[in-house]
Amino acid sequence: MPSWLKDAVFYEIYPQSFKDTNGDGIGDFQGILEKLDYIKDLGCNALWINPCYDSPFKDAGYDVRDYKKTAARYGTNEELYNLFKVAHEKGIRVLLDLVPGHTSEEHEWFKESGKAERNEYSDRYIWTDFWISGIAGHPYIGGECERNGTYMLNFFKCQPALNYGFFNPTEKWQKSYKDPACVATQDALIDVMRFWLDKGCDGFRVDMADSLVKDDDKDKSGTCSIWRRIRAILDKEYPEAALVSEWSNPRQAINSAGFHMDFYLDHWGNGYNTLLRDYSTPGGDNSYFKSDADGDIERFLKDYLPKYEETKDKGYISFMTCNHDTPRTTWTLSERERKVAYAMLLTLPGVPFIYYGDEIGIKYIPDMPTKEGGYTRTGTRTPMQWDDSENCGFSSASEDKLYLPVDKTGPDVKTELGKNDSLINLVKEILAIRHSEKDLRADGPFEVLLGTKNEPFIYKRGLLTIAVNPKPEAKTVDLNKLSLTNFKDVTVLSSVGDCSVEKGTLRMSGQSFVILK
Ligand code: NOJ
Repeated sequence: MPSWLKDAVFYEIYPQSFKDTNGDGIGDFQGILEKLDYIKDLGCNALWINPCYDSPFKDAGYDVRDYKKTAARYGTNEELYNLFKVAHEKGIRVLLDLVPGHTSEEHEWFKESGKAERNEYSDRYIWTDFWISGIAGHPYIGGECERNGTYMLNFFKCQPALNYGFFNPTEKWQKSYKDPACVATQDALIDVMRFWLDKGCDGFRVDMADSLVKDDDKDKSGTCSIWRRIRAILDKEYPEAALVSEWSNPRQAINSAGFHMDFYLDHWGNGYNTLLRDYSTPGGDNSYFKSDADGDIERFLKDYLPKYEETKDKGYISFMTCNHDTPRTTWTLSERERKVAYAMLLTLPGVPFIYYGDEIGIKYIPDMPTKEGGYTRTGTRTPMQWDDSENCGFSSASEDKLYLPVDKTGPDVKTELGKNDSLINLVKEILAIRHSEKDLRADGPFEVLLGTKNEPFIYKRGLLTIAVNPKPEAKTVDLNKLSLTNFKDVTVLSSVGDCSVEKGTLRMSGQSFVILK
């Protein structure tokens, strides 16, 4: 387990939209480089950069055309290597996005694979053996290649599935995941990982990590065995390299597959979803952090606690403010609600991720025309807003050249930093406490003291006690009844709203948060 993860706080960068330095309207590596001090100052010490490889960008770069070459619009390979170097000098780690399940249809491997004549890449993707065959319930494409067969898709039409085999092959054209041809796909992936790790990257966020072996069993045993093989290689050759999975099943991802971290994704009805984006309840949004919702933390705890208990000694669950696939919380939560929300997310166990711009409250724009396969996700991918100059300091290009429009009515970093009570200054304060208090680290202790509906949610992280009250009503709690800790001498380290403790009685105003020590 890479020890640096204990104190890691990640910042996710969608490179298209972060900072443009060459005036083409699209963010670039140089832009990230220029903003490393900003990221560090915020309190983040690690980056996840969305795919920045050569790509036709039909899915924002998740359609990789060449795994070992950067996209020219972001800069050269050398510039990325330099970014790793400078980031390291500043104490910042860098994860790239690894897309193991599919490539672009323009990848050389795929072009070779589609040829009629057998070659080294014929089995690199999943093909049937007849031009009008379906693929046993999976999406597929025919009519595009000279080969007599159809091929399986892993996501969009532009993303043919790489062949890691089937758990239990049932058709002649299906290979076992143990077949040497499928192991060769694993080897090719490992080669790509070694390539970037040798150049200085610190690991990978792994796209659709659970999608490798097709028709896998319910425990995803085939896919897990592949990741365990990869983890063993990392442990031996790159023990400081970290892997975080897009899986959202920590028992499988961490315990069985060997990922160091697993994202708690916004999946319908899971614990994370109930916190920020529970739009499904008839009668309105019932997200825990909405002040007019039912304030029931039990819905979150019921899902989260078993996952935490099962995995706490083996890896970390990663909470995120948002990601490039999910509506920004500004869509539905007020600034005060987001303050309480982020304060809690950043003080739970595990390794947190902040999505660029969430620290200032960039808006989600719901009805944007789709860009690079973004669809409803496009409104979450608009440019970072740095200041109140032209194009909000994102780019010097003319407005019509910008990757996506900037939101001139929205917040910007410079203005928000200048306000004492802004969200960004709260994030900075909480992260500074997180880095200085060992108990708040990823593997620090965690115990729920109070987790019932309509009461503040109170948890202990070692010597610290943290309380959250998302409701508009003020609350009073006798802390002495909850734990043997001596609450008489505690002090407030940070708070949202008015919070105080006197002789062990905690008083919290409506919509508040407090860290006590
Ligand atoms: C998950 C990524 O987060 C998403 O942006 C992408 O479209 C799909 N995987 C396909 O790679």
